[in-house]
Amino acid sequence: MGRYIVNGSRPLSGEIVVQGAKNAVLPLFAAALLTEDPVVIEHCPDLSDVHNMGRILESLGADVTIGEGRAKIACRYPVSHEIPARLASELRSSIFLLGSVLGRMKEAKVAYPGGCDIGLRPIDLHLKALRELGVKITERHGYIYCDARKMHAAPVTLDYPSVGATENVMLLASVAEGETVLENAAREPEIVDLQNFINAMGGSISGAGSPTVRIRGGERLKGTEYQTMPDRIVAGTYLIACAMCTGELRLKRVNPAHLSSLIAKLSKSGCKIEGKGDTLTIKATERPKGFDLIDTQPYPGFPTDLQAQMTALASIAEGTTVIGENIFETRFKHVPELIKMGASIKVKDRIAVVKGVNHLTGAEVTAMDLRGGAALILAGLAAHGTTIVNEIRHVERGYEGIERVLRSAGADIIRI
Ligand code: UD1
Repeated sequence: MGRYIVNGSRPLSGEIVVQGAKNAVLPLFAAALLTEDPVVIEHCPDLSDVHNMGRILESLGADVTIGEGRAKIACRYPVSHEIPARLASELRSSIFLLGSVLGRMKEAKVAYPGGCDIGLRPIDLHLKALRELGVKITERHGYIYCDARKMHAAPVTLDYPSVGATENVMLLASVAEGETVLENAAREPEIVDLQNFINAMGGSISGAGSPTVRIRGGERLKGTEYQTMPDRIVAGTYLIACAMCTGELRLKRVNPAHLSSLIAKLSKSGCKIEGKGDTLTIKATERPKGFDLIDTQPYPGFPTDLQAQMTALASIAEGTTVIGENIFETRFKHVPELIKMGASIKVKDRIAVVKGVNHLTGAEVTAMDLRGGAALILAGLAAHGTTIVNEIRHVERGYEGIERVLRSAGADIIRI
């Protein structure tokens, strides 16, 4: 089970070294299947999502070890092309295993994916793109059966810049003979990390980070050692924590450019933020000001994965903030929990109107999803009194030792 007990109203200070990015490392694990050689992934965060992904790879025949900031994966002899339903239901990211399992084994059977319950999360864009690459797909009894024996390079245009669909196309097209040109690709930094990883394996991808990605496939991919990019959402969460609690934090091993939309908002709210090399320093001395409007968008717009944490911040900021959630349908499940702590928030469809209150008050609340759970911890850190956060398994999917990290920065938080 597990819960966090947070005693609030303490300023934060000190230095935090930011973990490797979960959303980058999961597609790298998938890409590791494309070679029979061992790959080593450094700065691999120790998270339940990462271990789940490791278990799925093991069920396909890979040897996987995760620990001490490193993952080693070697899939010399694949034994299965079926992604087990039980494991897939815990990890939505298992959907981009389709591209790599097909690339390596030419056939795949996968259950409909799971993950955070934050909306419908269909997979139509993935399946349409794979079909354009010559994959034959049939759906029966909750399973998707894919046959890639006739796969080929092709022009592919996504109807929407889905992160996972972009990754799936990059993974499969890396082994399909010829050049695939992917248009309307997602531009998230994690896409660039996947490109760099596949290129380090001997692949040939260019354009990641722009709407057009070119993948030249067919080269034999080999083993590599690679450093995962820093987790921009985790870094953003700690910046918001400092803005809410006041204090001064130095974040190490970040890429400030990945956080520019958040930094712009926090600067407007009164924080002083400076980025230098791979370090970000934030200083917050007073109650934050409201932001007028936050509108989540695909990168480089404001990330949906920081919306819940910003809702927590807006709930104690001066003035009123309007928050538009444009990526997922039901991503305001943290709102009723924040209201239990005294927040003043009204939600209609995909819009939340947050009227800042002077302070929140500790309460017993429940994490409903990963980022919403992080938002409740931040609310607890800033609140008067004691907050209990239940269902922390959601938070542990994405934050490595969040209570340990926050304690090192002066917070009063324990996990029981
Ligand atoms: C990834 C991230 C997640 C983040 C999201 C948006 C990982 C492991 N997860 O999720 O943390 O919140 O990007 O930045 O990297 N959609 C469809 N059909 C599809 C695919 C997606 O309609 O086939 C919709 C989704 O329901 C959603 C939107 O497109 O409304 C964005 O989804 P997508 O970009 O695919 O996000 P994920 O890759 O699932």
